[in-house]
Amino acid sequence: MKFDAQDCLLVKKEQLTETIFDVTLQNEVLASLCRPGQFAHVLVPGKTLRRPISICQAGNGILRLVFEVRGEGTRVLSELPVGSTVNVIAPLGNGFDLPENGQVVLVGGGIGVPPMLYAADFLGNRATVINGFRDKSAVILTKDFQASGCRLIETTDNGSYGIHGFVTGPLKEVISGADLVCACGPAPMLKNVAAVAQQFHVPCQVSLEQRMACGVGACLGCAVAIKRKEGGFAYRHVCKDGPVFAAEEVEWNG
Ligand SMILES: Cc1cc2nc3c(=O)[nH]c(=O)nc-3n(C[C@H](O)[C@H](O)[C@H](O)COP(=O)(O)OP(=O)(O)OC[C@H]3O[C@@H](n4cnc5c(N)ncnc54)[C@H](O)[C@@H]3O)c2cc1C
Ligand code: FES
Repeated sequence: MKFDAQDCLLVKKEQLTETIFDVTLQNEVLASLCRPGQFAHVLVPGKTLRRPISICQAGNGILRLVFEVRGEGTRVLSELPVGSTVNVIAPLGNGFDLPENGQVVLVGGGIGVPPMLYAADFLGNRATVINGFRDKSAVILTKDFQASGCRLIETTDNGSYGIHGFVTGPLKEVISGADLVCACGPAPMLKNVAAVAQQFHVPCQVSLEQRMACGVGACLGCAVAIKRKEGGFAYRHVCKDGPVFAAEEVEWNG
């Protein structure tokens, strides 16, 4: 498959928290191709390697990316003014395999929350969303999730906002009757969400985050251990084969 880099116009930028930015890019072609759970590989001025950012929303000619400033690349991106041209390869990765019918529980943790908004938009009132944050200052996208028509539950680790505790508490209360659980967030959260889904015999898809270089399966930079049916495990690319994997395939200790 050939991946084309496309220029997008940065049409809107908002700072959501001290470190999290919400950027809207305009590009008719790319916006029409995306699915929930896919990502954009964004060229940062002055950097050779692109940065992978999940697609938070897409459609009507726009791509929305919500990202946290973690290092130099995301800092440069956060400082681009409205009117800038941003070069993007998208959509990349497989995305979530969302059913046309049935109830889905979406679980987001921290900066893993943005891609779940795109999934919530797709599912509407068939989604129960559980978003977990460190504390009140880290809470993002509440109004956007409410607008999607989903049932929204928010938690904070320290109880400063929403339900006190981790996402797995409310997950155990709502998972009965669900047809699927999808999750994106830090690896320990994904591992615990996968364990709850297994306990309740509900299929679970997890979006993994791995350091990336090429983003298209050419460099082995993003290898992750995936269990093989015949036993043992094999390495797969998070960028090309993922970032979404069936939870039971993931070798959590690999
Ligand atoms: C599929 C996928 C989707 C992602 N979606 C989002 C998102 O929606 N919002 C968000 O805030 N972050 C997201 N991330 C993480 C984001 O890519 C990193 O935070 C970012 O690349 C860090 O770049 P930096 O230059 O600021 O940091 P630096 O640490 O200076 O980066 C140096 C290099 O390491 C790579 N790198 C560093 N950390 C990561 C990481 N965690 N994952 C992948 N590559 C990394 C960078 O691309 C760069 O090549 C996603 C990562 C993946 C793999
Ligand atoms: S980042 Fe190069 S193979 Fe995935």
